[in-house]
Amino acid sequence: MDGIRNIVILTGAGISAESGLRTFRADDGLWEDHRVEDVASPQGFRRDPELVQRFYDARRENVIAAQPNPAHAALARLDEAWEGELLIVTQNIDDLHERAGARRVLHMHGEALSAWCLACDARHRWTGTLLEGPPCPACGEAALRPDIVWFGEMPYRMDEIFAALARADLFVSIGTSGAVYPAAGFVQQAKSARARTLELNLERSQGSAWFDETRLGPASELVPAWVEEMLG
Ligand code: APR
Repeated sequence: MDGIRNIVILTGAGISAESGLRTFRADDGLWEDHRVEDVASPQGFRRDPELVQRFYDARRENVIAAQPNPAHAALARLDEAWEGELLIVTQNIDDLHERAGARRVLHMHGEALSAWCLACDARHRWTGTLLEGPPCPACGEAALRPDIVWFGEMPYRMDEIFAALARADLFVSIGTSGAVYPAAGFVQQAKSARARTLELNLERSQGSAWFDETRLGPASELVPAWVEEMLG
């Protein structure tokens, strides 16, 4: 693709599906057998903190057990080689982009391996359980919650994302259903900045009509092929 310098890539659960991490909207809005609002909202956490902590303890274990797949590896290769601006905005809470070697990664929905203290606002890398209410390593209070952006909460680092979209020459969306805003609206932001837009997804998504081009297939095949095109 000629004339491309600044790239913004949005990734969703589909890029990690082939690493064995389940997507959200595969079966009737149930997420690992829970209603999303029970385990992914501040109200759900207030109502039943134990259920929510148990749920994210399991997510943390799954993330640690998963391995990056060829799609993560290809994006890491692009990140390493690309001299222009590049930002991988991920909705995923796993660390598979980083473990594949990508550096320019922004977790807009938080991270499974991070805990956030509601008493002192500190964040800590966390690989164990939060179920028993461990003390915050900074302030000692038992006030740690998963560092995840739940429904009704503001995604992280939106100004950086919008600034990158405003400068983008190319916006690529990978493995996301386009069902959850604000991420679902990034394609429109990118278009109004005159970026080209490309979607790589297993099936057509709710946002497909917005993209200049949609390629259908598994991320582990589409993403390496696209990166090869970019790096030629
Ligand atoms: N390769 C490419 N795409 C795939 C693959 C694959 N191997 N497997 C599934 N997909 C596609 C699905 O077809 C679907 O369009 O990935 C998309 C996953 O969509 P969702 O499950 O809705 O996940 P996502 O878009 O990341 O969800 C957004 O919703 O609940 C929240 O905060 C959570 O970040 C999440 C947000």
